[in-house]
Amino acid sequence: MKKEPIQVLVVDDEPNMRKVLRVLLEHDGYEVHTAQDGLVALSLLSENHIDIVISDLKMPRLDGMALLRRIVEDHEGLPVIILTAHGTVDTAVEAVKLGAFDYVTKPFDRKEMRQIVAKAARTQELARVDASVDRDSTTGRYSIIGRSQPMRQVFEILDRVADTPSTVLITGESGTGKELVARALHENSGRRGNPYIRVNCAAIPPGLIESELFGYEKGAFTGADTAKPGRFELAHNGTLFLDEIGEISLEMQVKLLRALQEGEFERVGGISTTKVDVRLVTATNQDLRRRISEGLFREDLFYRLNVVNIHLPALRERPGDIELLVEHFLSKYNIRLNKKVQLVSAAALELLQRHCWPGNIRELENVIERCVLFCDTEAVQPPDLPPDLYGHPRSEPPFRETGEIPLHTGDSVERGLKGQIKAATANLERQLINRALDQTGRNVTRAARLLKISRKSLQTKMKDLGLREEGGVEIKG
Ligand SMILES: Nc1ncnc2c1ncn2[C@@H]1O[C@H](COP(=O)(O)OP(=O)(O)OP(=O)(O)O)[C@@H](O)[C@H]1O
Ligand SMILES: [Mg+2]
Repeated sequence: MKKEPIQVLVVDDEPNMRKVLRVLLEHDGYEVHTAQDGLVALSLLSENHIDIVISDLKMPRLDGMALLRRIVEDHEGLPVIILTAHGTVDTAVEAVKLGAFDYVTKPFDRKEMRQIVAKAARTQELARVDASVDRDSTTGRYSIIGRSQPMRQVFEILDRVADTPSTVLITGESGTGKELVARALHENSGRRGNPYIRVNCAAIPPGLIESELFGYEKGAFTGADTAKPGRFELAHNGTLFLDEIGEISLEMQVKLLRALQEGEFERVGGISTTKVDVRLVTATNQDLRRRISEGLFREDLFYRLNVVNIHLPALRERPGDIELLVEHFLSKYNIRLNKKVQLVSAAALELLQRHCWPGNIRELENVIERCVLFCDTEAVQPPDLPPDLYGHPRSEPPFRETGEIPLHTGDSVERGLKGQIKAATANLERQLINRALDQTGRNVTRAARLLKISRKSLQTKMKDLGLREEGGVEIKG
């Protein structure tokens, strides 16, 4: 499978601009199409597959804003990067609120342009991957994987609160999917077509967070050459997601509380108040109640934020979902890394299910990505797993149910560690397969289903391991 180049459409009435962008982007490996105005762009869009649009604002016939509106309506998810002259930054900000991916001011900085296009390309590549991944395993409308009882509860609350204006606090350990849930709340609400703005409170220096959230007026501080709207304003009619809310300072907590209570705020250095209609979602992996008792978080703010709580279970509390997640990440990384790793062997899956996953789904995703990258066979085997899973399980020993694994101590010197591991794995697999066969009256089709692998893989595996289809007798190979 060869990776298709990303298709970029450049829309600008200045031939020179089209030329400059073509050279720059083709150099980076994109395929470039050009149009001199919005109407030509629309007809190109209807006939070609385009991944990214870069558009000027002022153009004859159909201008950039009008083009953007049409794209938002008819080509959902297509990123549009707006080119704007210095004087029209306000319009570009409007465009971002309407759904533009980002804007770049002219004359543009090559590095900035390349970075923004690369970011858009990446979102498009990920969208391609997501679209091709089987969605049966998710619960319908949300791209969140899970069928376990604790996850069903999460989906139930999501169903109930997504399309309401209620403020939601999402809690859960690191890597449990809080950002996915925040996004799902927005995508399943009436605000879907409006902005979804995420602010990572932990990533913004404390001194800048107020102007980031509430914006500033011209001259509010050195460097404030023009006024700038804050995230609250940008999120108007949409959803504002304040991630890592546990990190904000007490001083900022007071300001946030005031804005929430009064439904209005002032830009930094401004006097007039601004009112916005924003649905607020926050998330934290901290125990806010503890932070309250330590005097680090305001109780009144906590109650404002915690109108509805969605708590995400740790992965170790739902080992039943591991297999689904593994399948999901296998397809994702097979596509992304252009590999063909079909499955995780029953033995390796068992190790995955016994691990305690301190990094939760993010950790599992990283492990699977690594497996797909390094595995050169069809199936991931225990030795393909990272040493902390295969060598030193952090939870219980992995072979509890299957009993002792004979390590062929007699010829261990000749075999070396690698050989011993291979033999032990084969033994473990033999035991698991035999157990499945016993449970199904030695019906290979049903045993394969039980082991969650295809019948063909099971037959191949049995042949490799010297197992016969009928009767439990091992053929020594
Ligand atoms: N249920 C799930 N189904 C599919 N992917 C998931 C699921 N939960 C988490 N992920 C993936 O795991 C990774 C981590 O999730 P996310 O960033 O939402 O975690 P988080 O709870 O915000 O963590 P942190 O507190 O560290 O910010 C992401 O790549 C996300 O797509
Ligand atoms: Mg997060």
